[in-house]
Amino acid sequence: HIPVICVDGPTASGKGTLASEVARRLGYHYLDSGALYRITGLAAVRAGLALDVAHEHTIARMAETLPVVFVDGSVLLAGQDVTDDIRTEEAGMNASKVSALPAVRSALVALQQSFRRLPGLVADGRDMGTVIFPDAPMKVFLTASAGQRADRRHKQLISKGIQAKIDDLRADLEARDARDSNRAVAPLKPAQDALLLDNSSQTVEESVAQVLRWWEE
Ligand code: C5P
Repeated sequence: HIPVICVDGPTASGKGTLASEVARRLGYHYLDSGALYRITGLAAVRAGLALDVAHEHTIARMAETLPVVFVDGSVLLAGQDVTDDIRTEEAGMNASKVSALPAVRSALVALQQSFRRLPGLVADGRDMGTVIFPDAPMKVFLTASAGQRADRRHKQLISKGIQAKIDDLRADLEARDARDSNRAVAPLKPAQDALLLDNSSQTVEESVAQVLRWWEE
């Protein structure tokens, strides 16, 4: 059976950083499932669709046939580089809206599962351990305080030369967490067999080392 390590958690908890580094150390593949929802949101907006239930099935069909390619850290949508476009706060909010539509979630299941290839996969998202890879041998649920997460997101944006107010970022991520946690399908919550990791006062290296220790146990 091909091993999968799931890393789930709320917005800006550091899942991507942790999961991609663990994948690199183990020589495993890496799935950034949030990127698929971000790309779907972007494709729907570009098609002029409102991101609501009135267009649920149209957006789901788009998700099922996304002309997306991942190459060397870049994301191409229909041949166009959208790497930066899907990383904005607005793209995150749009991702959260399309991800609340059950048909869109179903449309992305097979694509996500297709990333499970030898020698193994590290997958990050909201429902990796609960829905997409329920049989995964290890599931980590990552948390950090809202204040810490807003602060990290702020530093990330500043380093890219983007201005933002910490209070606005915190309000945005709390709104996104609320939508992700309260939706009917695949709400954000730890799998029953998840290991909880609060990285509020950990460095990236400390969380990576912790996950690798758990994996070796
Ligand atoms: O992780 P990231 O911030 O890129 O995800 C963007 C949005 O996509 C999340 O706020 C969430 O609503 C949605 N998402 C999801 N399930 C996943 C990954 C992301 O619903 N597995």
